[in-house]
Amino acid sequence: MNIEERLNEYAAMTESALDRALSCDESCAYKTIYDAVKYSALAGGKRLRPALLLEFCRVCGGDIEKALPFAAALEMIHTYSLIHDDLPCMDNDDLRRGKPTNHKVFGEGMAVLAGDALLNRAFETVLDPRSTQGLAADVVLRAANQLARAAGMDGMIGGQVVDLESEGKTISIDRLMLLQQLKTGCLIRVAAVVGCLLAGKNDGRTMQAAEVYGDRLGLAFQIQDDLLDIEGDSAVLGKSIGKDAQSEKSTFPALLGKERCRAVVAQLTDEAVGAVAIFQDHEFLAQLARSLASRNH
Ligand code: IPE
Ligand code: IPE
Ligand code: MG
Ligand code: MG
Ligand code: MG
Repeated sequence: MNIEERLNEYAAMTESALDRALSCDESCAYKTIYDAVKYSALAGGKRLRPALLLEFCRVCGGDIEKALPFAAALEMIHTYSLIHDDLPCMDNDDLRRGKPTNHKVFGEGMAVLAGDALLNRAFETVLDPRSTQGLAADVVLRAANQLARAAGMDGMIGGQVVDLESEGKTISIDRLMLLQQLKTGCLIRVAAVVGCLLAGKNDGRTMQAAEVYGDRLGLAFQIQDDLLDIEGDSAVLGKSIGKDAQSEKSTFPALLGKERCRAVVAQLTDEAVGAVAIFQDHEFLAQLARSLASRNH
């Protein structure tokens, strides 16, 4: 199976798990929230985080079917973060995954609730004994805790706080690294870590490799995201461009310039690839990191 085929397979698995977890009866009295949630969660997207989680599980010798509820939950959390990120009170964006943003279609109140609903459903899913059959209780607990921490105040939310508070300011490179590592890195790193945990591998060497890979890839991914906001094609990206400069966001290209950013992405990618060399079957993870370094969406 080549990288494209495996990515497609992981995306299809995630998509059906999301569809199952986010469906309701036609007669449901509050069907609007299900419609709003599905509008964003089933709107495409690269499904990078679930793919990483499933692949780390696979290279650690785990059963990816058992990891699937966690992969879907992580994608729910990521989608919630995007719905809220796009709100007028945050980045005020009109286009996401090639479609009008959630609040443009369902209104701001419903978009806030759709984000909340996805975050909650993520944990309903991973803490449902029916979906975690065959996994040891302490493994589920550990993995759910990692997920919660990565999404919380000391993770993605903390990063969004620094992002908002850095608008219109020149911040240090260290603070910018922290911002990016938290807002984007944490959910990418946790994908790698949880994948290993669910396979029953939590030894120091494995955890260290997963953390370094996720951290470097996460940082490179956000620097690329910032570059694409300057030089990407909105039709390919499925979101508007030029918004970072307009909102005076603190970004890597703004601080370092585009050329140095590309060098940093290459360096981080090499470090990510190096970290997973400890896994016997690391080809997909290495190729994925390399392909993301030159992504156009
Ligand atoms: C967008 O993430 C937000 C960032 C953290 C940079 P993705 O680029 O993974 O978005 P989708 O899931 O493919 O839409
Ligand atoms: C968003 O970063 C990171 C999140 C936690 C959602 P951006 O604001 O740069 O993401 P895009 O460019 O809107 O996708
Ligand atoms: Mg943002
Ligand atoms: Mg944004
Ligand atoms: Mg961006």
